[in-house]
Amino acid sequence: MAVRHLGEFVVIVCLTLLTSGSSYAEQLPNVVFILADDYGFNDVGYHGRSHGSAILTPNLDMLAGEGVKLENYYVQPICSPTRSQLMSGRYQIHTGLQHGVIRPPQPNCLPLDEVTLPQKLKENGYATNMVGKWHIGFYLDACLPTERGFDSYFGYLIGAEDYYTHMRSYNVGSKTLSGYDLHANKTPVFQYEGQYSTHLFTNKTIDVIERHDKTKPLFMYLAYQAVHVPLEVPDSYMDPYMNITDKNRRTFAGMVACMDEGVGNITRALKDAGLYDNTIIIFSTDNGGPIQSGANNWPLRGSKGSLWEGGIHGVGFVHSPLLPTSVKGTVNRELIHVSDWLPTIVAGIAGGALNGTKPLDGYNVWSSISGTASSPRKEILHNIDSLYVAPEILPNYFDGEDFLWRFLERVLEDKFDTSIRAALRVGDWKIKTGPDASASDVWQPPAESGLHTIYPIEKPNQKVLLFNITADPLERTDLSGKYPDVVDELLQRLEEYYKGSVPVRYPDPDLEADPALHGGSWGPWE
Ligand SMILES: *[C@@H]1O[C@H](CO)[C@@H](O)[C@H](O)[C@H]1NC(C)=O
Ligand SMILES: *[C@@H]1O[C@H](CO)[C@@H](O)[C@H](O)[C@H]1NC(C)=O
Ligand SMILES: *[C@@H]1O[C@H](CO)[C@@H](O)[C@H](O)[C@H]1NC(C)=O
Ligand SMILES: *[C@@H]1O[C@H](CO)[C@@H](O)[C@H](O)[C@H]1NC(C)=O
Ligand SMILES: *[C@@H]1O[C@H](CO)[C@@H](O)[C@H](O)[C@H]1NC(C)=O
Repeated sequence: MAVRHLGEFVVIVCLTLLTSGSSYAEQLPNVVFILADDYGFNDVGYHGRSHGSAILTPNLDMLAGEGVKLENYYVQPICSPTRSQLMSGRYQIHTGLQHGVIRPPQPNCLPLDEVTLPQKLKENGYATNMVGKWHIGFYLDACLPTERGFDSYFGYLIGAEDYYTHMRSYNVGSKTLSGYDLHANKTPVFQYEGQYSTHLFTNKTIDVIERHDKTKPLFMYLAYQAVHVPLEVPDSYMDPYMNITDKNRRTFAGMVACMDEGVGNITRALKDAGLYDNTIIIFSTDNGGPIQSGANNWPLRGSKGSLWEGGIHGVGFVHSPLLPTSVKGTVNRELIHVSDWLPTIVAGIAGGALNGTKPLDGYNVWSSISGTASSPRKEILHNIDSLYVAPEILPNYFDGEDFLWRFLERVLEDKFDTSIRAALRVGDWKIKTGPDASASDVWQPPAESGLHTIYPIEKPNQKVLLFNITADPLERTDLSGKYPDVVDELLQRLEEYYKGSVPVRYPDPDLEADPALHGGSWGPWE
């Protein structure tokens, strides 16, 4: 009852504002950004339906169906990298976060001189709120969300934990560091033990929406824990999927169902609060699905953590009553990347200036999403990770040419070292170098489809691969032997990026991070 009355009160206040000729009508759009975790390309209903998946997502399908589906949309292959680019608009080669994710005891975070998306929105008058997973570092107080532009924060700082206990253990050598991780702003809050995070984060988001001061535009960043491992969900969400015999997939399907319900609840809350009509909802995954633990990217190649399309070609869409009718219900095939959201939201949606940021790698793609403009983005540097090299692999993309010749050529012509793990997209072309997670280098259909895994045919040690992604989005045909000139050009481009990169920052774990030294909670320790 109390909640209902509060809802009615909010509606009345809102109507009063509308009818009293206030500035509400001219107000900047609210932005609700929902980031799912480890959500695979084939795990959303509107993709999976035609690709053997049993997972149903009625709310996501409806929002996407009435909005703009981004079908040439890219994210990074793992968590911290995508989140760092979302917050900064900058590639990892420019922030030092090229390698892996930030581990719980690593003294590392998004560099403090990076200007963030919420900081810029605050400058433009937005109330900025975050709920959910941070995972771009917390070793210093200055790294915390409320020091990086958010007015309020409720969530967990590390990369993964139990959905109910909110506990996380991490081994450093023979020592196990173990602690609770749930914070309201900067304060550890222990009273939520036992509450499933998808429900909790949905409710906390609804709280923000209901309490929002409507004289300001709202920026809400909800980074769900769903559907990352551990695979956990209340049984009732698995009931519709009892005929999926693979237990991981069945549980995963239930986790998706709960997240989809949460998105539906949030949409309803926006409507109840009178905010929906002036809101833009953006939905994105953080990376491709981990195919070993229930997620699925079929028919794409590869998995979370890889630079195959299955690791980086993400689910994404934009929904809003503010979109022009001409784009509502359409599929957008412009090249768009997660680093584009900062300039797109700040300049494109909020009409703000981009002053003060470091040189952005993202583009304002708002006129490509809300209109017919072609994307200003022609390239994506998927990553260069110089800590991930395969020196033992001989260069063999030109059959018959010997190692010494290729080596000399590289030194003389200043070519990119192809033993480094990297990938670059330029127009239709994608080049991929160095080692990749070979265990995930398969085309993996969903368990419930009855289809069979397909294994790659390239030579196992091949260091350079070239694909025309437009013609061959499934990366079935390596063209590196057929187009040596294109390979050379793209390697040159990779070398230019590499020369402009900052050193990788991947510090050793610090035992001072041990939650036992900090009241049982993960949190800043320096
Ligand atoms: C979320 O809100 C609903 C409705 O108010 C309530 O029934 C439920 O207990 C809440 N759950 C959590 C985890 O906060
Ligand atoms: C959505 O709202 C319904 C009704 O209040 C509630 O039962 C359900 O638990 C909510 N789901 C989530 C994921 O919060
Ligand atoms: C951008 O410019 C405004 C107005 O001059 C200023 O208040 C703000 O601090 C600047 N932002 C940054 C990040 O430098
Ligand atoms: C499971 O049941 C649903 C609905 O009853 C059906 O759509 C789906 O194809 C079934 N899946 C399997 C693996 O039998
Ligand atoms: C890649 O394939 C597309 C679609 O078949 C084709 O239009 C395009 O010309 C190809 N790109 C290049 C650079 O060959």
